[in-house]
Amino acid sequence: MGYNLALNMNDHGFSVAGYDKSKDKVATFGKKANKREIESFSQLQDFIDSLEKPRTVILLVPAGLIVDEVIAELKPLLTDGDLILDFGNSHFIDTTMRMEQLSKNKIHFMGIGVSGGEAGARNGPSIMPGGAQKDYQQIAHMLDAIAAKVDNEPCVTWLGIGAAGHYVKMVHNGIEYGLMQLIAEAYHLLKVMGNLNNKKIHEIFSKWNDGRLHSFLIGITADIFTQEDSLTGTDLIDIIKDNAEQNGTGAWTSEEAMALQMPVPVIDMAVAIRDISAQEEDRIISDKMLKGPGLDPDINSYDNLVSDLEQALYFAFITTYAQGMALISRASQKYEFKIKPEEVVKIWRGGCIIRASILESIRTCYKDNQDLKNPMLDEKLVSELTKTQNGVREIIKRAVECGIPVPAFMASL
Ligand code: 6PG
Repeated sequence: MGYNLALNMNDHGFSVAGYDKSKDKVATFGKKANKREIESFSQLQDFIDSLEKPRTVILLVPAGLIVDEVIAELKPLLTDGDLILDFGNSHFIDTTMRMEQLSKNKIHFMGIGVSGGEAGARNGPSIMPGGAQKDYQQIAHMLDAIAAKVDNEPCVTWLGIGAAGHYVKMVHNGIEYGLMQLIAEAYHLLKVMGNLNNKKIHEIFSKWNDGRLHSFLIGITADIFTQEDSLTGTDLIDIIKDNAEQNGTGAWTSEEAMALQMPVPVIDMAVAIRDISAQEEDRIISDKMLKGPGLDPDINSYDNLVSDLEQALYFAFITTYAQGMALISRASQKYEFKIKPEEVVKIWRGGCIIRASILESIRTCYKDNQDLKNPMLDEKLVSELTKTQNGVREIIKRAVECGIPVPAFMASL
């Protein structure tokens, strides 16, 4: 992501220098940056010397202790007024602490969430900055230039003080977990209850992606069903191990929601099911011990499966975004971040993993009522939920009858 962001910045006319401890990585970066105004270094002092003062240093390292180690190396080389931007998925409490510690040395620090993966970093991510507004003003023109654009609006804005940016990114990831779990449940139902092959499931997801469910995650899900495994020639989806890892950001969201007493049940359930997915050995044993009702094609035939599932996904997507947004509003009040929820939704419309058409409707709720604490208290959104609740209720009933687990759909209801 680091060098993709550097290339993106350089495309927009900014001169950039890169640093990595690994000489190999520096060499690869040098080749990628061929003929561009980009320098790369494997000696930290050389890198720092190459920067104009006041310096802006962007960190792209894994969250946790490594961030502190890199900051400790940088600290003696930086001076008053220099600015460090942490573009990683750092925990917001760590960001608050780092900000306070660095301010003692007059070094400015901002926690900035970035979403969109490597492709987003190269072509336009969604960027979630938090920290002092004065610091943001120094870098706003650069972030505006490199961010994704929707209707000519850049998917970046100053979100609030302190660790507001990393808080919003954490909840973004929590929502991402929730949507992915719902998609996985929809796939399970189409495959087992609908007995549909991958080609047909691809067509269903593609059609959904042309409608009100249009989103990055539904779109890439549609694509996965046509992906062939180059080694075996079989459909890739059928040989992917049913065992998911996680970087912790979903669990942090759940922990925070519990602490602030602002429930996010779809996200909680998504985290729990990922945990179960990782317990492969126990799952295999329990699969032999615990028998559900099983599927009886005569009794369980279900003509409206696809249309009910579309309604159910729409319903559950709205509740998942709403749960995340309600948590952000509660946190902004508690930590005095000064986050404007409408701005959050605005910058999630492009570049990030949870970008979706639904966000336009949620943005409208906040436009109509800046003080809205929870999108599920907006009349227009409630009417969307009312219209689609039948789908989610029907899906849950049928799934229960056949012994197919739909915990995230249940949590959304
Ligand atoms: C993004 C993503 C990115 C990544 C998650 C993956 O916004 O670009 O959220 O940060 O997808 O960190 O997290 P898990 O490995 O825990 O799913």
